[in-house]
Amino acid sequence: MTRPVLRDNRPVTSRFVPAGSLAVRGDPAFGPGSTHAAETRVQPVSHDLAPQPLTATAGLALQGSLRPPGDKSISHRAMILGLLSIGETRVEGLLEGDDVLRTATAAEALGATVERLGEGRWRILGVGLSGLTDPADVLDFGNAGTGSRLMMGVVGGQPVTATFDGDASLRKRPMRRILDPLVRMGTEVVSEQEGGRVPLTLRGPREAIPITYETPVASAQIKSAVLLAGLNAPGITTVIEAAATRDHTERMLRLFGAHVEVTAHGPEGHGRTIALTGQPTLRGTDVVVPADPSSAAFPLVAALIVPGSEVTIEGVMMNPLRTGLITTLIEMGADIERLREREEGGETVADLRVRASRLHGVDVPPERAPAMIDEYPILAVAAAFAEGTTRMNGLHELRVKESDRLAAVADGLKANGIAHIIEGDDLVVHGDGTAPKGGGTVATHLDHRIAMAFLVLGLATRQPVTVDDGAMIATSFPSFLPTMQALGGRITP
Ligand code: S3P
Repeated sequence: MTRPVLRDNRPVTSRFVPAGSLAVRGDPAFGPGSTHAAETRVQPVSHDLAPQPLTATAGLALQGSLRPPGDKSISHRAMILGLLSIGETRVEGLLEGDDVLRTATAAEALGATVERLGEGRWRILGVGLSGLTDPADVLDFGNAGTGSRLMMGVVGGQPVTATFDGDASLRKRPMRRILDPLVRMGTEVVSEQEGGRVPLTLRGPREAIPITYETPVASAQIKSAVLLAGLNAPGITTVIEAAATRDHTERMLRLFGAHVEVTAHGPEGHGRTIALTGQPTLRGTDVVVPADPSSAAFPLVAALIVPGSEVTIEGVMMNPLRTGLITTLIEMGADIERLREREEGGETVADLRVRASRLHGVDVPPERAPAMIDEYPILAVAAAFAEGTTRMNGLHELRVKESDRLAAVADGLKANGIAHIIEGDDLVVHGDGTAPKGGGTVATHLDHRIAMAFLVLGLATRQPVTVDDGAMIATSFPSFLPTMQALGGRITP
């Protein structure tokens, strides 16, 4: 196979790319109508090409309907469980964003056969729980925290050695939280950067040690890494979480044939105890990926704040551990109707009809954070248009996302004349029910959600809003630009 190259002739680490949906900085394909390209053309987001600024300007009402891309969390897990099972896994609706393509490439490097059959349709031939091979190269996860951390769980539980790396954002993110439980399970950390950061090399044991692990912070990534390592443990691996986090790993493990018991934990039953019986036979299966509520959040809030808008967002996953934003927006007075509720791929999905609404400020309780952890940047944008004060409590985990999101959101609000304050781990935004000034340039720090949130802001502020670099949007919502443009949103390079 000819190895694809980036514009500067460096080889890239992924050989997968969807038809025209990935952006490379400076590529004219990064814009509307970019639906050309061969099925396996490769253009992951490069780390070090020129930034791609984008500007959003207020215009007419947003109208129309859209289906957001497949859920990122489920897409990563489908690739990973496809790798670990025997036989064929077929995925429909896979998110073909850079993050997931990195996981696909890593699955292939560990022994799976991964094939793109058509738009969102993929086939994975797994190697089973004992068939993993040492990857020949470094596993480069780009910007992807979830892909890298879950795959550390896989490698950490298996007798293979692999090196993990990523972009400047991933290199800053804490991995100790994953390495600590893995070391208890028998993983050797061969090398690591200061504070347990990538690049790091792991060597897994012949068999993992089954442990009971209480996660120190509410994190589906920590829970998932421990469970994935526990697949190769002779006994029961138990994860206890004080607050329930997204449960896609547990659900999908069952779908592939593992035995997983989940019980309520803690005095108020907010937590969960998840017990996995090790060394199951995982069998390849069909996975249908519902639309990502975290991507739906951007057109949803855009429709709420651009006057006169009415937008329908189709097939959005309504897993209650992911719908904290919708709960909060409805409390703020948002007109969001859940239509055609149905089952898709083992999840409840619905079409959301969203109309522009007068919002008012609310207090968002800290216990809701796990169900909307990725949605605070866009909630802060909604809060800027609300009348009164919105207080978002308990956001400490936002400091270790693709960027320090608490600081990045505060800086973006400041640049656009929006009154706010950070109090400890809480973000407080003051609105007066009118459109904020805007006019600022926002530093995105390689963070896709910061880029999309502030572009949505600019669709309704009095002056345009610019983000310094929109390239990372391709990690989770490659069609964001054409999608927003099709609704009538004015976002331009
Ligand atoms: C994810 C878990 C969350 C979330 C991330 C996706 C997952 O991270 O922020 O975007 O798919 O497990 P944490 O586990 O760090 O909370």
